[in-house]
Amino acid sequence: ATPVIIDCDPGHDDAVAILLAVASPEIDLRAVTTCFGNCALEDATRNAIQILDLAGAADIPVAAGAAGPLAGAQALGNYVHGTSGLDGPELPAPSREPDPRGAVALMASVLDAAEEGVTLVVTGPMTNAAQLFRDRPDLVGRVTEIVFMGGSTERGNHTPSAEFNTFADPEALDEVLRTGLPLRMVGLNLTHQALATREVVDRMVAMPHAVGQTCAAWMGFFGDSYHRVWEFDAPPVHDPCTVAALIDPGVIVWREAFLAVELDGRWTRGETVVDLHGRYPEEPRNARVAMTLDAPRFWDLVLDALDRLGAR
Ligand code: BDR
Ligand code: CA
Repeated sequence: ATPVIIDCDPGHDDAVAILLAVASPEIDLRAVTTCFGNCALEDATRNAIQILDLAGAADIPVAAGAAGPLAGAQALGNYVHGTSGLDGPELPAPSREPDPRGAVALMASVLDAAEEGVTLVVTGPMTNAAQLFRDRPDLVGRVTEIVFMGGSTERGNHTPSAEFNTFADPEALDEVLRTGLPLRMVGLNLTHQALATREVVDRMVAMPHAVGQTCAAWMGFFGDSYHRVWEFDAPPVHDPCTVAALIDPGVIVWREAFLAVELDGRWTRGETVVDLHGRYPEEPRNARVAMTLDAPRFWDLVLDALDRLGAR
């Protein structure tokens, strides 16, 4: 199994990513760390614990990280994810407090203890990863790769140009790019292929357990937001695409490309620049960029995992 840390801002789609990881024997989830993003840090942290409670995984450590970006103003996604960051169904109170050491120390201890490399899955702003490598540059070599949801080869969502996670902390992504670590980007151009259609939600509704029912209700709230803000007929379930790629390499087609993030644009701050056509021949191909999702295969994988988890 692939040792993994999920660094996230749950978040309805982050929640599905966490459940997918817990449910899948291909993934050895060593820790969940949280960041501001879809909601304030305390909300994201409480949500992460409640999600792991739902998954029956109260043993996986959770720690809180950054409350704001390395630079610039704090952006939050409550307009999509609601006041709590995970609005919709009522969940039982969280079973525990987060690990008092905090996200960077928890990540460092997982990396220090691992005999093999650990994969970092980042489904929120890149702040915690950047802070980890600032504090412990010696740990870069312990990370196998970073697979992150963020950016796009096309347009944005939080602004016309920028996807939310890369908008929320572009300096952090820029610093992580400079580490030279293997990086895989799962941007909006990919995740907009992962739509929780009526058919997908019906398959959750048909599951006779709390995991299925809760996911269906989350998709209802998330879908309403996507309809109101972006006129989508079905919500794109971004974050679990990262985890699915680790479980089933055939689910996504990738392209190697030069990736950069705009730090200075008047209107384009946080936009990812993805050179798919070699227009900057002097620049390195520093990332693998997700291009095409096999959506039926993705949803079979996710829904089978959720159903297994709920039936445990
Ligand atoms: C990203 O931002 C958040 O709304 C989602 O959780 C996802 O990580 C999509 O732009
Ligand atoms: Ca997220």
